[in-house]
Amino acid sequence: MKKIFITGGTGLIGSILNNHLQKDYEILNLDISKSNKNSSGTIIGDMNNYNDVFEGSKGCSAIIHLGAVVSVDSNWDLVLKNNIESTKNVYESAKNNNIDKVVFASSNHAVGLFENDDPYKQIVAGNYKNIDHKKIPIIDHNVPIRPDSYYGISKAYGESMGRFYYEMYGIQSINLRIGTVQKIDTPKNSIRHFATWLSHKDIAQLVEKSLMTKLGFEIFYGVSNNKWRFWDIENAYKKIGYEPIENAENYRK
Ligand SMILES: NC(=O)c1ccc[n+]([C@@H]2O[C@H](COP(=O)([O-])OP(=O)(O)OC[C@H]3O[C@@H](n4cnc5c(N)ncnc54)[C@H](O)[C@@H]3O)[C@@H](O)[C@H]2O)c1
Repeated sequence: MKKIFITGGTGLIGSILNNHLQKDYEILNLDISKSNKNSSGTIIGDMNNYNDVFEGSKGCSAIIHLGAVVSVDSNWDLVLKNNIESTKNVYESAKNNNIDKVVFASSNHAVGLFENDDPYKQIVAGNYKNIDHKKIPIIDHNVPIRPDSYYGISKAYGESMGRFYYEMYGIQSINLRIGTVQKIDTPKNSIRHFATWLSHKDIAQLVEKSLMTKLGFEIFYGVSNNKWRFWDIENAYKKIGYEPIENAENYRK
């Protein structure tokens, strides 16, 4: 069984992935918090400590890097420590442990300022009048980064870190611009989620297929096949066969 290392592995997405991947992988989680008890192994440690990441990831074939402060309103100091320096520790550990793949939890907030423009601004507000959902201009992996926060900047930084380690050291770098994953697996908390929702099954599929396929530097959007989706899923379909099974519209009351 291949062994994988998951930073932030006791968090929400970490727990979803532990449940889904443990049939095929031996999993070792690293997390600063003990809040969830995943059945797989967990080291309590800090990603900001290089040795915690380096020692923990020895012998693994891939790192799934989820650990981060996750609030869009996080201040610079928190983001610098937990999202930026930690990502360097992850890639540096991958290089020094000969691990050839990092799957990085990037975020839609790396391109969040598109939502200041129409039609996205109208869609996230639920103003669908005058918009044909089949003609929405799709935001894909080639658009310029437009971070909407220090948090979004930290994710764009992580993607650029991945580009560097891929081109310099050949480490496959899979950057998932995740939409909205929630504990209760429905899009109901905000009208925006009818566009941005990513179900538990769909994130599990996206990560599993990212692990299974030999890749280069990639940017995939993590979003279910929502009627009001404005992020691309074609690139992930072509490269890894990602076919999301959920559509937020089916949950609209
Ligand atoms: N849930 C979403 O909708 C969403 C959307 C976009 C991106 N993401 C990204 O996906 C990843 C996982 O998100 P989540 O929703 O599971 O969040 P979460 O808060 O449930 O999990 C993050 C985990 O990282 C851990 N962590 C934070 N700092 C750490 C450190 N210094 N050392 C070790 N562990 C540390 C936390 O304890 C936590 O368990 C994050 O990187 C987040 O930015 C999530």
